[in-house]
Amino acid sequence: MSSELSPIDKAKFVCAKRAAQFVENGMRVGLGTGSTAAWLVRCLGERVRDEGLHITGVPTSTRTAELAREVGIDVITLDAAKRLDLTIDGADEFDGAFNLIKGGGGALLHEKVVATSSDRMIVIADVGKEVETLGAFPLPIEVIPFGLQTTHALVDETLVSMDVLGRDSSLRMDGDKPFVTDEGNHIIDLHLKRIGDARQLAMTLNQLPGVVENGLFIDICDTVVLGFGDGKVEV
Ligand code: 5RP
Repeated sequence: MSSELSPIDKAKFVCAKRAAQFVENGMRVGLGTGSTAAWLVRCLGERVRDEGLHITGVPTSTRTAELAREVGIDVITLDAAKRLDLTIDGADEFDGAFNLIKGGGGALLHEKVVATSSDRMIVIADVGKEVETLGAFPLPIEVIPFGLQTTHALVDETLVSMDVLGRDSSLRMDGDKPFVTDEGNHIIDLHLKRIGDARQLAMTLNQLPGVVENGLFIDICDTVVLGFGDGKVEV
């Protein structure tokens, strides 16, 4: 299958396939969202079918839940699972300390709840996601619909005092309507270019009324499985 893929898809496929090997029989596994995580779910589905692997999956989005069921993975809720052995998810950016920007696919809230309910989080990423300093990728924050414009203005005001290079922000759209998350919220993307103090920014954003969660994952991921366009993988 991998020989027909473009280099970027091959990179996503090979890191997902390698990460699927971390999953053992009986595990409760958090299943991420996005194109790389979709490869992971397909690879786990193959192991369920071919090796009789038995796992229960806790998906981080309705999209992932549908795919997991399609490929034969038993799906349960986070509350039914309580604690997870492992979460495997993609990322939009990761730095040398394995801090992440996530939420490009709009699932950051469920992704963070699931990842922090897991004994470990493995990120699967193509090599293009590795950065020295987070921030080139727009940082998503999830906000409630009530008072959307007021919250947006408050976020913009707050950015003025933060250690970032850019201070633009935009409401994520889905056609001519605001994008809606699985929780019925919206996403504001922060175009910061360079985030000087990611930990401080994450704490400050989450203190703003109307902001539910931000896409900075600090000290949550312990392993990155990196895929390259030529099929090489690094753990
Ligand atoms: C979704 C995410 C994804 O993990 C992130 O956007 C990476 O996606 P992809 O694997 O398609 O590049 O955080 O909310």
